[in-house]
Amino acid sequence: MKPLKVKDDIYRLGSVDWDRRIFDALIPLPDGTSYNAYLIKGSEKTVLIDTDDPAFRDEFMEQMEEVDKLDYLVSLHAEQDHSGCIPFVLEKFPEAKLVVSPKCKNMEMDLLHIPEEKFVTVADGETLSLGNKTLKFIHTPWVHWPETMSAWLEEDRIMFTCDFFGSHLAVSNIFVTDKARTYDAAKRYYAEIMMPFRKIISKNLQKVLTYDIDMIAPSHGPIYRDPELIIEAHKEWVDAPPKNLVVLPYISMHESTRLMVDRLVEALIKNGVEVEQFNLEVTDLGKLAMMLVDAATIVIASPTVLGGPHPAAVYAAYLANVLRPKALFASVMGSYGWSDRVVPVISGLIKDLKVEVLEPVLSKGAPTQETFEAIDRLAENIATKHKEAGVM
Ligand code: FEO
Repeated sequence: MKPLKVKDDIYRLGSVDWDRRIFDALIPLPDGTSYNAYLIKGSEKTVLIDTDDPAFRDEFMEQMEEVDKLDYLVSLHAEQDHSGCIPFVLEKFPEAKLVVSPKCKNMEMDLLHIPEEKFVTVADGETLSLGNKTLKFIHTPWVHWPETMSAWLEEDRIMFTCDFFGSHLAVSNIFVTDKARTYDAAKRYYAEIMMPFRKIISKNLQKVLTYDIDMIAPSHGPIYRDPELIIEAHKEWVDAPPKNLVVLPYISMHESTRLMVDRLVEALIKNGVEVEQFNLEVTDLGKLAMMLVDAATIVIASPTVLGGPHPAAVYAAYLANVLRPKALFASVMGSYGWSDRVVPVISGLIKDLKVEVLEPVLSKGAPTQETFEAIDRLAENIATKHKEAGVM
């Protein structure tokens, strides 16, 4: 890919990774991703913001062939999909200084073995003059690691945010063209890596929104020329109360748990509660994470296998626990033959969720009329709890 013009003297470099389908060996990427770097040519100084994933080293360094001089390399985030090509850029431009937050310096010394003398650390609010342009650094921790910062290009009113406001989306246009598609990809991205830090992200949102932003230029996915789209989305994902929605990940081996799930879905609908069920045998875990952004209640359902919950249900419970969604209530359903450890094991895995745990439902063998009545009571309980909590 050739460098593409964002505005006069501002270019997007990096790569579009059309084929990538998994990130951090964990996160499904149905739409690929991009790794965006930005080159800014000031009247006196030239700056590169972020680099590229090392898998695209050759393509990226070919782009750097077109750069005459580099005074500063700004690294907003130490994760290797943005920092991985820093050593190669510094090798080509030995005079360039690496501008980072203090925490990022330590991380990049550890992760990339960059010598200490290459770094210049910048405090929150510090500025760097490029001549006719000014970069201001805004510390925005936990989007997505503790060292992350954003950079504000004052004269052009562009906020460079790295992972913050990003989307895993491979597209040929550097700007957003399909708003609905970008919204979905950005929500998936937020759910999978940002959601656990939403209290700090809320503060970061307030911090960047004090600027009169014309464009948001993240390091994944397209650039927002209409920043309202992604700003309003983040306000809702981060700060709005949860919705009248139950997320129901489940797995079933011999139909008992599935019959329980069917009954709960039916009873929730009858009680005016929306529900999204995810069969963990076939589900896209990214979609499950997306639904967790809004859900007021999580119910995990599993049969018993090898004396405890099914490993797929254990995985889903652990994932929900680490994603720390804004859910207010949780419960467990399960079936068993001779060992009834589904409820204690699953409950033990979701201890970091700040939820009220509602009465679980356990069935010995296939569900009976008594089991279905207990499920109906759980659905009524969820509906009542949602109303009491003001969940709409
Ligand atoms: Fe895109 Fe946290 O790296």
